[in-house]
Amino acid sequence: MAFLSDTLARVKPSATIAVSSKARELKAAGRDVIGLGAGEPDFDTPDNIKAAAVEAINRGETKYTAVPGIIELREAICGKFKRENGLDYTPDQIIVATGGKQVLYNAFAATLNPGDEVLIPAPYWVSYPDMVLLNGGEPVFVETTLEDGFKLTAAALEAAITPKTKWLIFNSPSNPSGAAYTRDELTALTDVLMRHPHVWVLTDDMYEHLCYGDFTFTTPAQVEPALYERTLTMNGVSKAYAMTGWRIGYAGGPVELIKAMTKVQGQQTSGTCSIAQWAAVEALNGPQDFIAERRAVFEERRDLVVSMLNQANGIQCPMPEGAFYVYPSCAGLMGKTAPNGTKMETDEDFVTALLEAEGVAVVHGSAFGLGPNFRISYATSTEALTEACERIQRFCAACT
Ligand SMILES: Cc1ncc(COP(=O)(O)O)c(C=O)c1O
Repeated sequence: MAFLSDTLARVKPSATIAVSSKARELKAAGRDVIGLGAGEPDFDTPDNIKAAAVEAINRGETKYTAVPGIIELREAICGKFKRENGLDYTPDQIIVATGGKQVLYNAFAATLNPGDEVLIPAPYWVSYPDMVLLNGGEPVFVETTLEDGFKLTAAALEAAITPKTKWLIFNSPSNPSGAAYTRDELTALTDVLMRHPHVWVLTDDMYEHLCYGDFTFTTPAQVEPALYERTLTMNGVSKAYAMTGWRIGYAGGPVELIKAMTKVQGQQTSGTCSIAQWAAVEALNGPQDFIAERRAVFEERRDLVVSMLNQANGIQCPMPEGAFYVYPSCAGLMGKTAPNGTKMETDEDFVTALLEAEGVAVVHGSAFGLGPNFRISYATSTEALTEACERIQRFCAACT
């Protein structure tokens, strides 16, 4: 439609949302569908957090707030960064936005000029490239491999940097692969960045609290303090606190960058919901024990899914360190014929045939920039996961 902008034409609709819609349609038509597409915890928001929101309403905290967020929340965020990441921020270095998503959007809107390059390791969270495009930048993809655990190597990072590189997006644990970088792996990357002072780091630490076994989470400005001056450390309450619908994300960074992002936000939303901000204060300052309890449940599910998928013909599933996703390869099925007669040439063919034959909805890897793979979200019940993996095994066994 000629009325729409040229910029919008460069943007793809979200593949993860498309899969969820297709699964919903099939369900509505009476099919027995197990949806493993959605990236949100199946747990509820803890009661103390809900109660804090109700109290905020009753106290009359129902008016516009400061654009970067209420001071109580920005102080709670400074406390979280100090306590969990050893990072010193002051409230004027913090912005609260409508989900982690809007933090990223604000950052790109505030910094990108036409031609600026943003390095995005692949596989990547679907929204990164499109947000860069919407803000006039150029996404530059840096592929990883299953053999490297889907982690960016120092050599690949070094080779991708040009004079036009503005940001590196770093996401650990990763959506979609679940890969998380050890301190040594991260240091290898920060060493490269130290040689290129024009490159800034946007670290998306959304899945920080979902690391398994004895894995220790670290973030770039923590492992290389000299990068603090050019790092935006992004995080949020959506995943760890099961608060996806409250729409609260935040970031810490240099004052001038935060001011610029606040200027963008001031003309966009005037800041996020006052009530949700008070709930987030309670999330960050209140009891944290439930996080470990839920993490243990996710870890069991991860182990179950990885083990069952590796028993399916043609599937190879590495064990990820974190998040609630696995990113198996379906290369072993390419060229084979699915039970519905489709010859599968791409991972999209695979996920479509799987949905049709067995009613299991997963997302194709090409949507995340690296295939042939697919993403399973294991943020759902153990029963549903077991049933889904049995169906995947049956599907793979029936391919010829
Ligand atoms: C890697 C990553 N970053 C950011 C977000 C956005 O989080 P929010 O729901 O707080 O906007 C998501 C949500 O799926 C994510 O997976």
